[in-house]
Amino acid sequence: MKKILVTGGLGFIGSHTVVELQNEGFEVLIIDNLSNSTLDVLDKITSITAIKPSYFNFDLKDKKAVQNFFSTNKIDGVIHFAASKAVGESVEKPLEYYENNISTLIYLLQEMKATNVLNFIFSSSCTVYGQADELPITENATVKPAESPYGNTKKMGEEIIKDTTKVSNIRAIALRYFNPIGSHESAKIGELPIGTPQNLIPFVTQTAAGIRKELSVFGNDYPTPDGTAIRDYIHVVDLAQAHIVALKRLIDAKNNSNFEVFNIGSGTGNSVLEIIHSFEKVTGKKLNYKFVERRLGDITAAYADTTIAKTELGWTAKLSLDDALLSAWKWQQTLK
Ligand code: UD1
Repeated sequence: MKKILVTGGLGFIGSHTVVELQNEGFEVLIIDNLSNSTLDVLDKITSITAIKPSYFNFDLKDKKAVQNFFSTNKIDGVIHFAASKAVGESVEKPLEYYENNISTLIYLLQEMKATNVLNFIFSSSCTVYGQADELPITENATVKPAESPYGNTKKMGEEIIKDTTKVSNIRAIALRYFNPIGSHESAKIGELPIGTPQNLIPFVTQTAAGIRKELSVFGNDYPTPDGTAIRDYIHVVDLAQAHIVALKRLIDAKNNSNFEVFNIGSGTGNSVLEIIHSFEKVTGKKLNYKFVERRLGDITAAYADTTIAKTELGWTAKLSLDDALLSAWKWQQTLK
């Protein structure tokens, strides 16, 4: 049984990926400092899969603890989710973001190199493309200067990994996620935003649940068919499965080069209004919303060209937008 370290394994995407890994017969070890997650997620994962993953509670900024982990656990690969991810907060606290997201990546790679752990999957983001010149966005699109320290940690993270693969046996895949949404069909795990949600779907579900009075739609003057911004929303379970496929590619040494990047999206762009209308349709709930000014730093449109993920990884999104929205709503209802 292959042993996989999942950092941030109790978080939103991490927890869904742990479930899929265990379903596929991997043994999972989680490191999570609970900075944006709770310990009961471990029990929820256990109740879904009937397997309790090993859990280590420490901060990856603790270099000694990382060294100790790698010297005492023989692992076959690392999926690295643990990172801070709030764009606005990263502008306020750049040093915290660089320390948190970059130093931890460096310590992990150093220990992988030292202990000969070869396989590394990195959570990257479509944010590296900024407003792409052409849509849909292929992996060959230009990586633009980052709009925020958060975005920069993804861009720099990819560069650090790429440079490391040139001088070590480490082989790595960066998955550039588009907009992950939804939750596991059991509604036992899902997205747990701290405070007021910054992302669209948690705000939508909290509004439908009566926790928020109304949703603000940021901008209706974009050059899009209905004036609202377009994104590629990908079901978190599909996204989780992309990690398994990418991991197996590395373990089986099927990779074409030691640093590869793949877009992980649905391949379809949906506007904010389309999301609102789809949500209303699948849940039967009416959403209060109003149009407000554009949000600073937001782009007009982004959606993935998923050809390479399909041909190279053999991965494609299977679940629909409606599936994702309904699952997000079911999850929200468990939180009340
Ligand atoms: C954001 C981040 C991105 C990060 C991703 C993680 C920014 C600028 N980008 O992407 O770097 O990788 O989250 O999930 O923050 N919207 C509303 N009202 C709301 C919230 C959102 O109209 O209350 C709109 C936004 O303007 C956008 C769309 O909904 O058009 C999606 O927003 P969001 O879920 O925050 O994702 P991104 O901004 O695409």
